[in-house]
Amino acid sequence: MKTTMKLVTLGLALAGAASLAAATAAENWENHCASCHGEDGKAQTKQGKKLKIRDYTDAAVQAELKDDAMLQAILDGVKENGKERMKGFKEELENPDQEAKDLVAFIRKLKA
Ligand code: HEC
Repeated sequence: MKTTMKLVTLGLALAGAASLAAATAAENWENHCASCHGEDGKAQTKQGKKLKIRDYTDAAVQAELKDDAMLQAILDGVKENGKERMKGFKEELENPDQEAKDLVAFIRKLKA
């Protein structure tokens, strides 16, 4: 009985710790990116179409993308002719450097 209680307490502690840790790339993509870029990265969403976002599953588009530029876009946003096309997510991420890197890797895996 005592052991069971200990295990339950340990389980709760671990669950609590996990929820405090940085989010996974898939979670971040779902929460912060999919509304524009689409769950699948094809950007076939209302916003994606309006903003004419490229299809990140397309090999030709993937070839154009550079890892360091993607990283910077995720952290600091995307501007075109001084106009913001996408905001930066530095403030939204728990552990920005790591999570932005994970998102770049996640986007690379969207390639068809
Ligand atoms: C409000 C809509 C919107 C949201 C939300 C959004 N983006 Fe974007 N994103 C854009 C637009 C617009 C562009 C520029 C057009 C393009 O790349 O086709 C862009 C470009 C990018 C690029 C390409 C940068 C480059 O090197 O050219 C990456 C990578 C990217 N977004 C990742 C993300 C990630 C990761 C998230 C979530 C953390 C996110 N975006 C959320 C609209 C958005």
